[in-house]
Formats: sequence, C-alpha cells, structure tokens
Amino acid sequence: MRPRVLSGMRPTGALHLGHYHGALKNWVRLQQDHDCFFFVADWHALTTHYQEREVIERNVYDMVVDWLAAGVDPDRATLFIQSRLPEHAELFTLLAMGTPLSWLERVPSYKHLIATQPDRDLATYGFLGYPLLQAADILIYKAQFVPVGEDQAAHVEITREVARRFNHLYGRLRGSDIPVLPEPATLHTDTARFPGLDGEKMSKSTGNTIDMREAPEQVTQKIRRMPTDPQRVRRGDAGDPARCPVWPLHQIYSSDDTRAWAHQGCTSAGIGCLDCKQPLIEAILREQDPWRERAERYLANPKQVHWIVEIGTERARTVAKQTMKDVREAMGLNY
Ligand code: TRP
Ligand code: SF4
Repeated sequence: MRPRVLSGMRPTGALHLGHYHGALKNWVRLQQDHDCFFFVADWHALTTHYQEREVIERNVYDMVVDWLAAGVDPDRATLFIQSRLPEHAELFTLLAMGTPLSWLERVPSYKHLIATQPDRDLATYGFLGYPLLQAADILIYKAQFVPVGEDQAAHVEITREVARRFNHLYGRLRGSDIPVLPEPATLHTDTARFPGLDGEKMSKSTGNTIDMREAPEQVTQKIRRMPTDPQRVRRGDAGDPARCPVWPLHQIYSSDDTRAWAHQGCTSAGIGCLDCKQPLIEAILREQDPWRERAERYLANPKQVHWIVEIGTERARTVAKQTMKDVREAMGLNY
C-alpha cells in the first residue's frame, strides 16, 4: 500500500509559476509512489471570499485544468472538490465540540490576516474555524503526509493536536491499538520563495505573476518589461546582478554557462538587459509548452475534466464515509 498523501488548494485564480514550483511540481513527484488525494478547497476559499462567490465558481475547474496541465495524473491521484463531500463538514462539527477556542485564536495566520486585510471582514466564525476545517480535511482521509509550505505548517500542527485529543477522549479503533484518527506528518515543501516580476515573492495579490498558462507573447512582454539593476541606467553602464530582480530567475532557469555569460556581460556592460533576458524568456516558454499542450486537450474536452473530478469525488467519498463510521462509533453516535 502506498502511503497516503493529502493536500488542497484554494481556488482563488489562475495558478502561476510560484504555485508550480512551490507546490504542484512536488505533487507530480509524490504521485509516483504515494496514494495522493488532491482537492479543491472551495469552502476554505469562502472563509475569506464569501462576498465573491462567482470568483470561486469560475476558478474551480480552471484550477483542476492547471493541475492536469502541470502533470498531475488522474490515473494515479484522486482529484476532488471539498464541497461535494459533506462528510468534511460533519467531521468539522464533531471536532469543534472539544477543540479549545485558544488553539484557533493563537494560529499566527489568524491575527495576521485579520490585521492585514482591513477591506475584508474576517471577524467571522468561519474564518476562525479555518484550521479546524483543514484538520477535518486531513483526518477524514487518515492521511499520513501533508505536503504544505511554511505558511500552512501551523495548521498541520493543530491537526495533530486535534487528532491526539480525539484519540485520547474517544479511544482506539474497535479495541485495537490503531488510533481512530492517525496523526499526519508534515511534508515540508521547499517554498524557497519564487521570485516575481519585481523581484519580490510571486503572488497574485501584488500583481507580479506569470501564470502557468499565460500566452507566450504576454510572457515575453512581461519579462522584457521587468525592472533591472536600478544603477544600470544606460546600455554602456556596467551592472551588478546582485541588485537586479532578473538575476534570481537566472538562478532558477539558467545553466551554469548561461549564468556565467550573463554575469560577465552585465558587469562589463558587454550585453544589454534585453540580451540577458532572452534565455529566460526561452526557458520559461519551454517550461510552459507541455502545460499548454495538456491544457488544450482538456479544454477541448471539458466533459473529461468533469469526469475526472466525478470519479475522484466518489473515490474520496468511499474513504470519508468509512472514517465517519469509525468516528461516530467512537463518539457513541451509532444509535
Ligand atoms: N489552507 C490551505 C491553503 O490555503 C488549503 C487547504 C485546505 C489544505 N485544506 C487543506 C492544504 C488540507 C492541505 C491539507 O493553501
Ligand atoms: Fe539585470 Fe541582466 Fe541587466 Fe544585469 S544585464 S542588470 S543581470 S537584466
């Protein structure tokens, strides 16, 4: 039996290169030798975007297409949509009974987001419960591993505490020594921040992204317009890659030779910035080629995408139902 992995993403817009390098690439790798469950966390998106429901609706299948484009293989991984499985909500409710409020209030992202998103009213019950809903997502599949970035580590930690408390209060599986809700382990994804067009972390909120399926002309333009070393004003000025937002992309996409060429050309004013950017444009377009190709096939056949999700949802439901049976029995709710 392959160890089970579970992860989810909120459908908040087209996925970009940062999502690919920070998460999807890892999913594609994990599916080789793990039993992967990947789901669209649409309820989680509603905790913050409850006033923008049409955004979420549009993004759900779009995001699944991005996953498939990246190489997530529906024959290896189970793909589904959270809101199609009310079992998640049932487990969330049952776990809520014994979860101390303080565990949720002390999650770092909670206070931080409330403080930094003044245009959204996040003083809601749903938003406070966000990590507990995530715990239900994870525990209902008895996942062994949860691949997440640094920002989500606290949520997996709460999940472990919630599981421990549940097992302590309600015991083990039918007299065995198997816990009803096994504690998952975090698989830390190296989210070594992927640089955006301005050199800051690539993020939708700052508008410095290149989308996975962005049109080649647009990708080319975006990179050509990227700011460079602010002290390299004229073509004849020597530059310093250490000051240049383009350089981190060379560190990701370029061979040693290309990097040496760019470094030498920059510091001696031997090349212009557009010359320097050209190999990056080519590398990114080359990386995107297979994504575009796969996406085109799926977009030409939306029914197939729906089918993939349908099959995944039913597969997930089988597991979720069994766990809920165990949970109800453990809590004395099987009357
Ligand atoms: N909170 C996660 C995010 O914003 C999405 C998510 C919801 C998730 N449930 C999950 C991730 C369960 C891993 C496991 O990225
Ligand atoms: Fe940046 Fe390259 Fe221009 Fe140097 S030559 S400033 S590294 S874009």
